[in-house]
Amino acid sequence: MERHGDRPAHRTSRARAGPSGGRRRAGRRGSPRGRRAAARGDRRVRPVRYGGRHRGRYHDRHHDRHQPRARAGGRPSVGSPVTTLSSRFRLADTVAERLLRLTAAERHKVGFPGWSAAFPPPLVPFLSHELNNYGDPGSDPVFPWHTKDLERELVDDLAGLFGACPARPWGHVTNGGSEGVLYGLWLARTKHPRAKVYHSRTAHPCVARNAGMLRMENVAVAADVRGEMSYTDLMRRLLADPNPAAIVVATIGTTLTEAVDDVRSIRAALSAAGKRYHLHADAAMSGIPLALHAEGRPVFGLHAQGADSLSISGHKFLGAPFPCGVVLARTRPARHPGTSDLLCGASDSFASSRNGHAALILWYLLKERGISGLRELAHAGRATAEYAQRRLVSAGWPAWRAHRHARTVVFPAPPRAVLETWALPVVRGVSHIVCTPGVSRSRVDRFVAAVGAAIPEPIKDGQPWTTPSRAV
Ligand SMILES: Cc1ncc(COP(=O)(O)O)c(C=O)c1O
Repeated sequence: MERHGDRPAHRTSRARAGPSGGRRRAGRRGSPRGRRAAARGDRRVRPVRYGGRHRGRYHDRHHDRHQPRARAGGRPSVGSPVTTLSSRFRLADTVAERLLRLTAAERHKVGFPGWSAAFPPPLVPFLSHELNNYGDPGSDPVFPWHTKDLERELVDDLAGLFGACPARPWGHVTNGGSEGVLYGLWLARTKHPRAKVYHSRTAHPCVARNAGMLRMENVAVAADVRGEMSYTDLMRRLLADPNPAAIVVATIGTTLTEAVDDVRSIRAALSAAGKRYHLHADAAMSGIPLALHAEGRPVFGLHAQGADSLSISGHKFLGAPFPCGVVLARTRPARHPGTSDLLCGASDSFASSRNGHAALILWYLLKERGISGLRELAHAGRATAEYAQRRLVSAGWPAWRAHRHARTVVFPAPPRAVLETWALPVVRGVSHIVCTPGVSRSRVDRFVAAVGAAIPEPIKDGQPWTTPSRAV
């Protein structure tokens, strides 16, 4: 899906500049013509500099000229019609420049799991309205500016996708995957107050951080080279733990390699060690695309053989434009004394005021695309990842994927020249791209071309980089 941000800059600007060249026609920033040019991504617009040593002509002409009283030491003329006009120019200019930088940066966005789906036009008017899903998702606040009814539908739809068995699964919209994990751990601690938290050493750092915030002891379990938890090491550590209960966080798509912990093997280890337990699936990265791929029920789901609670991110696979997520639980959490809220009954969430727009957009994206539309997106991402892996390998750069459904392609960190343009995470010499629905084949082609151009000589056999044996 190639979007406007992927158009080569020279094509857009030259085509519009015409034979007379760009400078005069593009206009100065701040002028109406200049702002229009900036908004459509024309790089020839001359930069505006404000303040400090970059204080420039625009500032002098349009700002200072209209501030005589402030300059003379009088009261600043904030609010005078002329100043308002000039500050509006500045504001529009700053915003246009910001948009320009953002769209330019998105042409090189391959290294992170979030993407910018087109914002649904029917939802745009809602951005001018407060939507506050205050308190417990199960009961409506006294005011009508909320989307809790849609939030409940969203929770039901996701619970269905994850194969939840109870008639009424419980859950709510969060500020992102990390808050979902925090909630899962809190839920687990209410059941098993002194249990340790086990997670793989490749789990997202929010697991250890959240455990620390909740004053729970965490144990990092070994992982294989692809990033999947070692069940032998888990078993060994569980057997050494005298506590009759344990809490395990399974990662469904690790952040660096998209490895998936096997919930069945974790449950088997917990049972063999004779533990009571709570199992949380951190499915922030791959929960939805994997649930869509799986034949039948996903093994990490919310059914009897799955997890007790599960969290996803809404701004990753689904493409919500701001961080958000959903946490789900197989059973409704026990009410805590002291959580009664005068405005909206008892609250089961960490926040009191919660993002009603997040619930609205997640609900809309799920309904609009439907299971078949989402499945197509997941298949397309996997196909792009296969393509990217093939292209990288033929360009002389080794690459692998943790499993056949993975949309993440893992490779040795490319040379610095590539990283200067393409923002990629690098962890101990390992890097990746994530083929979100926003990553097109032509973007992959440009990335591979950049890697190919920067390789001093193709990596030969015998280099320290090895592809893990179970990788694809
Ligand atoms: C596996 C995993 N868990 C949790 C998180 C944190 O999610 P968020 O950034 O939505 O808080 C991430 C983010 O990349 C992740 O990959």
